Amino acid sequence: MCEKILSEFFRGSTPALSMKEGKEMNISLIGYRGVGKTTLGKLLAKDLQKKFIDTDTLIEQEIGMSIKDFFALKGEIAFRKIETIMVDRVLSKEYNAIISFGGGVVLNPKNIFHIRNHSKVIFLDVDEETIYNRIKNSQRPALTAFPLKKEIQHTLAQRRPLYLKSSDIVLQLTHRPLEFNLERLKKCLKENRIKAEMRRINYQSNQLENYSIFIRKGLFNEIAKICNVGNRYLIICDSNIHQLFANRLKQLFDAENKECSILSFPAGEENKQLKTFCELQEQIALSLDRQSCVLAFGGGVTGDLAGFVASTYMRGIPFVQIPTSLLAMIDSSVGGKVGVNTSKGKNCVGVFTNPSKVFIDPLLLTTLPKENFVEGLAEAVKHGLIESRDYFDFLLKNSSSIQNLEMNFLTKLIFDSISIKLSFVQQDEKEAGRRKMLNFGHTVGHALEELIGYGNISHGQAVSIGMVAAAFLSWKRGMISRQQVNLIEHGLTKLELPISLRELDLHCSPECVYEFILHDKKTIGNQITFILLQDIGKATIITDVTKEEILEMVHYVS
Ligand SMILES: NC(=O)c1ccc[n+]([C@@H]2O[C@H](COP(=O)([O-])OP(=O)(O)OC[C@H]3O[C@@H](n4cnc5c(N)ncnc54)[C@H](O)[C@@H]3O)[C@@H](O)[C@H]2O)c1
Repeated sequence: MCEKILSEFFRGSTPALSMKEGKEMNISLIGYRGVGKTTLGKLLAKDLQKKFIDTDTLIEQEIGMSIKDFFALKGEIAFRKIETIMVDRVLSKEYNAIISFGGGVVLNPKNIFHIRNHSKVIFLDVDEETIYNRIKNSQRPALTAFPLKKEIQHTLAQRRPLYLKSSDIVLQLTHRPLEFNLERLKKCLKENRIKAEMRRINYQSNQLENYSIFIRKGLFNEIAKICNVGNRYLIICDSNIHQLFANRLKQLFDAENKECSILSFPAGEENKQLKTFCELQEQIALSLDRQSCVLAFGGGVTGDLAGFVASTYMRGIPFVQIPTSLLAMIDSSVGGKVGVNTSKGKNCVGVFTNPSKVFIDPLLLTTLPKENFVEGLAEAVKHGLIESRDYFDFLLKNSSSIQNLEMNFLTKLIFDSISIKLSFVQQDEKEAGRRKMLNFGHTVGHALEELIGYGNISHGQAVSIGMVAAAFLSWKRGMISRQQVNLIEHGLTKLELPISLRELDLHCSPECVYEFILHDKKTIGNQITFILLQDIGKATIITDVTKEEILEMVHYVS
């Protein structure tokens, strides 16, 4: 019965899959039960002369009973495991089909990643009343202990953001005949047929190596094919990325006959330290030579750590950055800094060195926890504030599309943010002057992070509050207007970033912040350096900030 499929799940990843170039993509239909995925899907398949697949029907065939009975017998968790295997199985072999998925498929971020990666996804949206009328007499398992109407309300509230996040097209279905909705669906598909374009940035370095950055939705499946940096590859990743994606990346390299292995370390900032560095060095000793290449696959911690391992192993072997968090995509994977923390502070040991290539697939963000996504957004706002009013306006205007992970918006965000960051880096690769402007918001931010303590406030939250403090001082000095400060606060709030400590129920004494800044490693003598704004989109370096000013700005954000 279902033992086969369950053992496949517990073995870890299923066979390698990749979107075959030149073949048409699947069309996936998602949405709540009863919205018409199967009915409309069958009609669409007939019309377009494509195969129709209903994953719930396949699951029922596999388990030999109805989903309702299976729920009653084994529970929802067991069902979801089987569903994930079926999603993988179907998508690994179908390329041109219309696929209808069960209503709860979006609950697992892994499913969302695969579905988006292998199909054009349409969310069929129908109002609660219509859903109720359609399913009240059907044989479907209860999802909650609530009466049906309340269950629909409750479950939809939880799933709607996930449906939105997972889809390329949202189609509001009307009460008109099915044929009418079918024509609308076909029209949407026609308008949305543009293939995601590869964005490429060629970075010309003054002091280090040149490299290219590739950005495209779905690029993950092509990395193994286009990556020609070494004769042997080692994926270094943290435990989370190992579990989520590393086996699949290795399989893609295997499929290209490129030798590839995986080394992982426990996830978390606390592991970006010399001990982990030494352990990794010991583990790779003798297995890699100068022609080998390290694939730094993960968030900023992995990029910094694996990049440092590669750039010091045998006096430096090539490494490729494959960032998976927003912060790593727009910040840490580009700019040439790698290193680890010591007991004396963050990034105390490290080198300036460039990766050979950077491959960015925004689809990987579908599994990133929301709090980590917000970390990256704070840096994106910073890029807008210090260099581009247009980019800041773009973030503000499209905040909900960005938060819903609409890929076109994310691709633009990543491309623009990297371009801004590199424009600072290029002129000052070793951070002697202009590059310091990238520290906007970080002076107060870093102090708050250290004083309040990691775990109580995140880096992104601290930087967000730090940016408000710097904007406030810019206003106090007559460099920007009060309206501009308000606009910055409004933008941060729209992106769900905090603008004060009280919002987070936290407190920090302005005196302590001042003392911290005074003794920070970046403060030379008693001269406190601050990045302030002359306009939204224009930053400047100030070196004569007084104690009173610091106390006042920290008081403002307290
Ligand atoms: N080198 C630089 O120029 C530079 C610049 C900025 C920040 N940094 C460094 O970056 C680090 C912070 O980076 P970060 O915020 O990415 O931290 P991180 O690498 O710890 O990632 C955050 C968490 O998200 C998980 N994760 C990452 N991608 C995921 C995905 N797609 N799906 C699910 N989970 C995922 C990770 O496993 C981790 O648990 C800090 O150490 C900081 O010093 C370096």
